[in-house]
Amino acid sequence: MVQWLGLGAASSVISRLPAAGIPSLLMGESSHRATTAFDPDVELSLTAAPGEVAVLPGQPTRVWQFTGSVLKGPTESLRAMPGSWLGPTIRVQRGQRVRITFSNRLPEASIVHWHGLDVPFLMDGHPSLVIPSGADYVYEFEVRNRAGTYWYHPHPHMRTGHQVYHGLAGMFVVTDDEERALGLPSGEEELQLVLQDRRFDAQNQLVYLAGGMMDQMMGFLGDRLLVNGTLQPVLPVATRAYRLRVLNGSNARIYKLKWSDGTPLTVIGGDGGLLEAPATRRFLTLAPAQRADIIVDLSQHAVGTTISLDTAAYPAEEVSMTDATAPGMLQASAVPNGVARSLVALKVVRRERVPWILPSRLSTFAPEWNGVATVAARRVTIDFRRMQWFLSGRVFEMTSTAPEEQVAAGGTQVWELSNLGGMMGQPMAHPIHIHGPQFRILERRTAATGATTIKAGSIREGLFDGGWRDTILILPGETVRLQLHYTDFPGLYLYHCHILEHEDGGMMRNFKVS
Ligand code: C2O
Ligand code: CU
Ligand code: CU
Repeated sequence: MVQWLGLGAASSVISRLPAAGIPSLLMGESSHRATTAFDPDVELSLTAAPGEVAVLPGQPTRVWQFTGSVLKGPTESLRAMPGSWLGPTIRVQRGQRVRITFSNRLPEASIVHWHGLDVPFLMDGHPSLVIPSGADYVYEFEVRNRAGTYWYHPHPHMRTGHQVYHGLAGMFVVTDDEERALGLPSGEEELQLVLQDRRFDAQNQLVYLAGGMMDQMMGFLGDRLLVNGTLQPVLPVATRAYRLRVLNGSNARIYKLKWSDGTPLTVIGGDGGLLEAPATRRFLTLAPAQRADIIVDLSQHAVGTTISLDTAAYPAEEVSMTDATAPGMLQASAVPNGVARSLVALKVVRRERVPWILPSRLSTFAPEWNGVATVAARRVTIDFRRMQWFLSGRVFEMTSTAPEEQVAAGGTQVWELSNLGGMMGQPMAHPIHIHGPQFRILERRTAATGATTIKAGSIREGLFDGGWRDTILILPGETVRLQLHYTDFPGLYLYHCHILEHEDGGMMRNFKVS
């Protein structure tokens, strides 16, 4: 199912992997012969290469960019993000077979991961599958996920943060019949918003990890908040309903989203597609890698007016406990988590009367996925020792797994994750992402008190745990329970913190599905 181009014999690359770690996955020729039998509905090329773009006035900024083209299938399968240097949006339908040839024209090794998609191991962008500069990797998979906003980004070990930061990220939108039947705003009325923060030097060049150790420990925060790679874009809109697909593509920043005029947010979906019914929130906490699907009705807005999507102020302590003995220690960034900013403005430029009513029912989930699992929990602890983050006391190992990290394909399990901080204290919020199918969040509690009371206006109030998720923000002192459904595909899958500096620093583990 996988082809390696520009590298000579496919088997020579694959054989670099310790076979013991991933038995039966790389069974010689069988995985290659499947390629000729794979008849794609959609075929794309996707290249990662250095480029130059105008981000700020003055000198162009050197970035790394995904570009692509459609080789087979509908032309809308790939669309450049308007006015952006981020990767083109891939748009496919559930059930389509997709072939994507990734060409690595970066000066270093890379591999692409389709975040949120349930795909075979060889298609998942595991860091053991990196290809060198100049090589290609052919992905072939069937889109099994329900309609939703997924995304793609590189996943090489210890370089994910660097590569994403320099521009390598794009949206991966899946549509399906269930969603189409709802008649949600689409086309011009669907806006894709990628939230990222960046730091630039006096020559307009990207600055990464300038704070050294502190940035790696706390996660790197930029001082400019960009949307689709642009500073405070203004998008022209009409007096009608819009659908916003929002992705937090930042390395470490946590947003507290709200509308500038105080209108509550109407949430229709999250990481793994539509909710069962729309939900309303005063504000919405969005952690790195998470997505929010939001409806906004502008029919009552006057032409000439503007409404903006903002990130509201919150105390940084809510996501990273400050240490009284070392005040200021956690202020590595000039623009810390919790800073208030306007992100993107919607400017009403046209009057259009298109009556539309948001359906009150969006989807129906199978009852066994509505939080009734009783299977034994697997416990995962988050700790910090010797300037490093650990998952259950371990750091990343490329191909090995602990006994409790070996699971049955297609099985269901409950994970209980605790973020209590170790002896060294310093708990902070971690967005934990699990590869494979989407999961459900069963419970979230503050471990010390068992309390479930939520402080009004807090980051905790803005967390939305409904629907299908692939990334969960676990606040300091919290314990959460997730119901997971493992993929049917055997192989090594990852779970890790999506603060990319934590991931690169080893806050990542494999679980082996067999
Ligand atoms: Cu978005 Cu393992 O990554
Ligand atoms: Cu992922
Ligand atoms: Cu983390």
